[in-house]
Amino acid sequence: MAMTAEIGLIGLGTMGAALALNIAENAALVAVWNRTTARTHAFHAEAGSLAPRIMPCDSLKALVAAIRPPRAIILMVPAGQPVDDQIAALTPYLAPDDLVIDAGNANFNDTNRRARAGLPFRFLGMGVSGGEDGARHGPAIMGGGAKADWDRVAPILTAIAAKYKGTPCADWMGPEGAGHFVKTVHNGIEYADMQMIAEVYGMMRDGFGLPAPAIATTFRRWNDGVLQSYLIEIAAGVSAATDPLTGASMLDVILDKAGQKGTGRWTAIEAQHLAAPIPVIEAAVAARNVSARLEERQAGEALYGPAPQHLPAAMITEADLESALTAGKILCYAQGFTMSGAAGPAFGWDLQLPAIARVWRAGCIIRSAMLDDMAQALSEDPARNLILAPHFAAHLKRTLPSLRRVVSAAALHGHALPALGAGLAWFDAMRTARGTANMIQAQRDFFGAHGFDRLDGRDNHHGPWAVRG
Ligand code: 6PG
Repeated sequence: MAMTAEIGLIGLGTMGAALALNIAENAALVAVWNRTTARTHAFHAEAGSLAPRIMPCDSLKALVAAIRPPRAIILMVPAGQPVDDQIAALTPYLAPDDLVIDAGNANFNDTNRRARAGLPFRFLGMGVSGGEDGARHGPAIMGGGAKADWDRVAPILTAIAAKYKGTPCADWMGPEGAGHFVKTVHNGIEYADMQMIAEVYGMMRDGFGLPAPAIATTFRRWNDGVLQSYLIEIAAGVSAATDPLTGASMLDVILDKAGQKGTGRWTAIEAQHLAAPIPVIEAAVAARNVSARLEERQAGEALYGPAPQHLPAAMITEADLESALTAGKILCYAQGFTMSGAAGPAFGWDLQLPAIARVWRAGCIIRSAMLDDMAQALSEDPARNLILAPHFAAHLKRTLPSLRRVVSAAALHGHALPALGAGLAWFDAMRTARGTANMIQAQRDFFGAHGFDRLDGRDNHHGPWAVRG
């Protein structure tokens, strides 16, 4: 009897190939198709012992025919127009109860559009995080679409997902683009985590004069403590690596121009639409843009002299840097969860913040020990800003003095800390009950008669300047 696959996958690029092998190994017979047939067969030939659980297909029609109805087909193609093109190419072959799952890094607004487009079959959009290794051995999966459609494929998705203490890091986030929205927030936090790590790396390299191997040792030590996380782990790894061509430390031969596919930028754009303050994430996106302007930075150094200076001995310690990074991480995640909390009402989604924290505990790029504590704090009160949760308030009271010392030392000695600095400024603003926006209100009313409210509640909303001769 001809084999039938339980699920299909389209797109055998880095992530698609890894996910297909994961499915074959941990969940189901999988039918695969790639635009270039040669790639399909090369993938199958390289699948080794998993090859019998993979059905290579030479056409979309053959792919659909190979899957047991009602079919589920995962798309792992580049975000944007390629997804719409792939959907259009598939449409003639699908039945109404077949399910297409876009598992790429789609802009969640596109997923909302596709979910509302009245496609003649079922549609899910899901964020998959963890890079190639995650896709192969256990990603974090954030689903969006009809819950019933998620439930249909949940047995496969939970089987292939990373596990945190036995719990799969795969969950339904909400309807439409909710899954891709949560992935967008994940990527904004990812940018911020990476930027803050780069900032403390710079303080060790340029402020303390430490060579990369010593910096690796520090990151490794931090990974045994409260900062335990995938990104700190790989920060140690890349700091320890040597260039096979020159024998130099790998970091010392890499050009300091950050790339970006734009996932973090989407976070910053959407936060503005939601009026959700995420200054640490916005600073991280801006920092990537600044890093890309290498020629200007070279001209700036030539004209003004190099900014970063060696730090006076004992001005700040490595422990200060560890604490500053801990504080910055808490502030950044608090901002990310506030943004997620704002999305629910804005899009009519009932996003469960504790579920978001739980799905990020393993498999994804921002996985860390702290996320389980965040899930707990959010479960107690999802509407409460994480900085007001007792567990994190205790961390912040302990670590804020170091953040302030590090940001101050950096400012005094020319080290750019845009993300850590933005975190400190936001935190101080969040503990100032009488700020300075009254000056803004007065100016707006002066030139635009936009009005203001008074502290005493009187029903008089314009200043004396409004009466002009
Ligand atoms: C993940 C990553 C991944 C990301 C790439 C490139 O969760 O596995 O976030 O989805 O898109 O790492 O990201 P940038 O090019 O935007 O840095």
